[in-house]
Amino acid sequence: MEFRPFGNTGLQISALSLGTAAFGMNYGISPDASKTGGLPPPSDADCAMLVQCALDSGINLIDTARAYGDSEVVLGEALQGQRQRPFIATKVHCLDRRGAPLRGSALRARVQASVRKSLEALKTDHVDMLLIHSAPPTLLQSNEVIDVLREVKSRGWARYVGASTYGQESPQLAIEHDLDLIQVAYNVFDRRLEDTILPLARQHGVAVVVRSVYLKGALTERGDDLPEHLGQLTDLSRRFRQIAAQYELAPADLALRFVLTNPAVASALVGVRSVAELDLALQSATQGPLPPNILADLDPLRTDDVQLVDPSRWGIP
Ligand SMILES: NC(=O)c1ccc[n+]([C@@H]2O[C@H](COP(=O)([O-])OP(=O)(O)OC[C@H]3O[C@@H](n4cnc5c(N)ncnc54)[C@H](OP(=O)(O)O)[C@@H]3O)[C@@H](O)[C@H]2O)c1
Repeated sequence: MEFRPFGNTGLQISALSLGTAAFGMNYGISPDASKTGGLPPPSDADCAMLVQCALDSGINLIDTARAYGDSEVVLGEALQGQRQRPFIATKVHCLDRRGAPLRGSALRARVQASVRKSLEALKTDHVDMLLIHSAPPTLLQSNEVIDVLREVKSRGWARYVGASTYGQESPQLAIEHDLDLIQVAYNVFDRRLEDTILPLARQHGVAVVVRSVYLKGALTERGDDLPEHLGQLTDLSRRFRQIAAQYELAPADLALRFVLTNPAVASALVGVRSVAELDLALQSATQGPLPPNILADLDPLRTDDVQLVDPSRWGIP
């Protein structure tokens, strides 16, 4: 496993990390995803197997969140007896029911209560990284939430703090606050942050964890199961898979290698749901950067259309 420096933390993190949203809730793309929210979680035993295989392969970062159903519980169980091995990242939502940022004592109470529940579910006394979940600019424009995160750090509940974000403004604010890490979307189609946020984060020593490597599956055969209103994305997915076939590469392999080719990426988070998918990802992570001719063929596939590249706008719950 390749390890990469994690911003200014001094940590060496595996270039591949494991995402576990699918452990605790329906997730991904499926023909009935608009109704069901995607595919049901693998069994707890299969999740534990996936975690074991990931650890045995050298993966040392696992991402979860309070909001992923019982993903933290499943992960906590799977890590029983081996807590020291992986770095764990979890997340806290800091918005009220209307989606407005919490403030003052309500914000502090939310973060403290959420972290306590996460530690209990994960059966641990601290996590390695605590992220604000999908932090909007309105939240990051004030220092309040940053102060609350620093407090969590000073209590030893989390060693490093950061934010998972959408768009450009939020990761920019997170970097300006000198958070330890950001988690952002980046893939063959969605390169909006490639020339701005990724180099800026690197310059500031803020670690970059990338999600949406497979665009929730749209960069794989799952692209054919997208709802009709995303026909343009299905077309893009087919064009991408044609290029992969041209180079005799599996679409998921090419998608992951594209992300790992960017040196500003500290770790690529993959939402694999089976050991077979994990094995392919592990294989991809040994192949090194993509050659210029393949990168040139992928260039025309980039799009800034948020309706296509932001899964939270797809109408899949
Ligand atoms: N706002 C946030 O903080 C946020 C948002 C989203 C995700 N995340 C994090 O990122 C992680 C990854 O989620 P993501 O949305 O970014 O998903 P992703 O990794 O881009 O895609 C995951 C989907 O790709 C498919 N897939 C994976 N390997 C494959 C293979 N070899 N062949 C074919 N299909 C394959 C899987 O579907 P099948 O198994 O059905 O093929 C899976 O549902 C999550 O678990 C979570 O930890 C965070």
